[in-house]
Amino acid sequence: MTQTTAESPVRKQRAQLKMRTLRTDRWWLAPALVFAGLMAFLIYGFWAIFDKSYFVAPYHAPFASPCLATSCPPEARLFGLAPFGDWYTLPPGILILGLPAGFRLTCYYYRKAYYRAFWLSPPACAVGEPHKKYTGETRFPLIFQNIHRYFFYLAVVIATVLSYDAVLSFRDKDGDWGHLGLGTIILVVNAVLIWLYTLGCHSCRHITAGRLNHFSKHPLRYRAWTFVSKLNAKHQQFAWASLFSVMIADFYVRLVAKGIINFPFA
Ligand code: FES
Repeated sequence: MTQTTAESPVRKQRAQLKMRTLRTDRWWLAPALVFAGLMAFLIYGFWAIFDKSYFVAPYHAPFASPCLATSCPPEARLFGLAPFGDWYTLPPGILILGLPAGFRLTCYYYRKAYYRAFWLSPPACAVGEPHKKYTGETRFPLIFQNIHRYFFYLAVVIATVLSYDAVLSFRDKDGDWGHLGLGTIILVVNAVLIWLYTLGCHSCRHITAGRLNHFSKHPLRYRAWTFVSKLNAKHQQFAWASLFSVMIADFYVRLVAKGIINFPFA
């Protein structure tokens, strides 16, 4: 059997095929769907960042939460705080956009998805790619994908804030507890899906029990790892479910804030 080491010429060569692939199935469908889904999210996100209808008591649009600018309505501010001074005049969503965006952009699943759908590198298994060379994630700029584990900690903060917003949505406009509208349900479902996606992260799996030699000596960490591993097996599904849920929740709150959907059913 031929050994393929890093120095081996066998490893350096690609299969010399005249056609792009020998596959006869619809291999292009998955990358095309990923491209459409991610483009829809990017276009919506761009619109939402500049849309000003991000808060209507008791609902807070996820794309603008936490609201940290002085332009945020007092009830929309996290614990009433506005740490950025009057000098900050851009939309408040821009302040926190980088945290969930960085988390998803560096996610192991999304990396596979957008490398295939946007870079065509390669577009699918056993399909030739248009690029002449492959340098992987070992050098600039893709080496920065390794900061994913740090984005995980920031994503936990964002998930906590969205959960807090979901809890506050059980209050009515006057601040009394007991409200239950469609918006409440949508925000709660979104918070749950965000947690399922966040906790299923490969970095979270490593944090819970990575480098342990004996599970039997760490029963709690073993339990946590078992739970995270189950979520991790469905990471792709939760990635998409939470992507759409956050978009739906955000859009719904804006429709209520604009008066297109009205209370008491909202
Ligand atoms: Fe997907 Fe960490 S691997 S969120």
